Amino acid sequence: MESTELTRNYSRILLDLEEVPKHYVNILPHLAEPLAPPINPETGDPVSPEMLMAIFAVECVKQEMSPEKLVPIPEEVREAYMKYGRPTPLQRAVGLEAALNTPARIYYKREDSSPTGSHKLNTALSQAYYAKKEGVIRYATETGAGQWGSAVALACAHFGLEAMVYMVRVSYEQKAYRGVLMRAYGAEIVPSPSDRTEFGKKVNTEYPGHPGTLGIAISEALEDTLSRGDTKYTIGSVLNHVLLHQSVIGQEAIVQLEKADETPDTIIGCVGGGSNFAGISYPFMADPRFETTEFVGVEPTACPSMTEGEFRYDFGDTAGITPKVKMHTLGKDFTPPEIHAGGLRYHGVAPTVSALINEGRIRPVAYEQIPVLESAMVFARAEGVIPAPETAHAVKAAIGAALEAKKTGTEKVILFNFSGHGHFDMGAYAALMEGALVPEGEMAMAKNGQPLPQTT
Ligand SMILES: Cc1ncc(COP(=O)(O)O)c(C=O)c1O
Repeated sequence: MESTELTRNYSRILLDLEEVPKHYVNILPHLAEPLAPPINPETGDPVSPEMLMAIFAVECVKQEMSPEKLVPIPEEVREAYMKYGRPTPLQRAVGLEAALNTPARIYYKREDSSPTGSHKLNTALSQAYYAKKEGVIRYATETGAGQWGSAVALACAHFGLEAMVYMVRVSYEQKAYRGVLMRAYGAEIVPSPSDRTEFGKKVNTEYPGHPGTLGIAISEALEDTLSRGDTKYTIGSVLNHVLLHQSVIGQEAIVQLEKADETPDTIIGCVGGGSNFAGISYPFMADPRFETTEFVGVEPTACPSMTEGEFRYDFGDTAGITPKVKMHTLGKDFTPPEIHAGGLRYHGVAPTVSALINEGRIRPVAYEQIPVLESAMVFARAEGVIPAPETAHAVKAAIGAALEAKKTGTEKVILFNFSGHGHFDMGAYAALMEGALVPEGEMAMAKNGQPLPQTT
């Protein structure tokens, strides 16, 4: 096939607006065993929906436990998806394939094409819609790298809610313009640990200069929520309803690959809490046509919850405010080194991802920051898009799979989720190019020769 023909026909597979999915795909009925319920840490009993409804939008709590295989997407949310760029393109990485000289065919789903730069808007819009409908005035949340905070800020602006964002301090400093973007959408934002909450003050007093973690920022956002009557909490990953909302990604990808007459052999996503990975993977897992497809979740060695975490009940936050959920966890007090992939610095991982790892359906892998960002540069030169440091983990795995296919001479079809662009992450790439990044093992000690503080 001529390369121009190849490019014209296959390099960018687009769908019509009306092909935005009409349902979310729920993985819960497809699990081998029922998911262990969230429990009340004091009694050890399953938490009641009412307890969760004090924190989350009511509809989200219902979805959290839904046994339905398909959950309808409200028309207002579908329209917002269309306005902000869904369906997203599926792109064939023709430049990368050529650069690697691989027989593999590599496709990536362009979740970077949303106005906030990542997949996070898929659930932010849905959650904001439900909250507004239920009379909520204000949403509080945490953010790591700022992709989630930006998505919440835009979704709240779209549906007419106030937004309060606690941003992990190290990311707040590394990615200052993310904060500006959130403010431009009208959100209020503070670095976490902050002096806005009792828990933030406690951490700041005990550990001055603490870089923050997602667990601490979640505790602050929850304390904020529970201290006022007009606010609910919105979460960007981990919980079932969030992963459910992300299923629009994989559903579109199934139709797009059908148009290209392709069946994926391997599907890859980076994993923080697990939502973009679930978004691309779960619709395939729920479809018996893809029974032999391999699913690979990629995390940083700096925060190896899937590959090294224990499978047990743990808190979702650091202060211990949330119910406990059963997941692979490094412990709620784990403070990872200050890697640039702020969205992957979370001590746990979604209970459904954890269950599917245990079932052997997901193969978890972990990579170090420097080779991850080097892969991202190879990708940027070949494809023209610079990945977010989180996304770069999936890029590295996709390149690895393509090189493996080259070794064995196999025409493998690789699909990965391009969860976000790195336009606000130039600090990471500058540090890489200047040789200023230290390997993880040294990084934990890099500040002053002391291990980074752990919260209690
Ligand atoms: C671009 C990008 N990809 C991936 C992630 C990881 O989150 P999740 O595992 O929920 O997709 C984040 C989190 O902030 C992100 O910003």
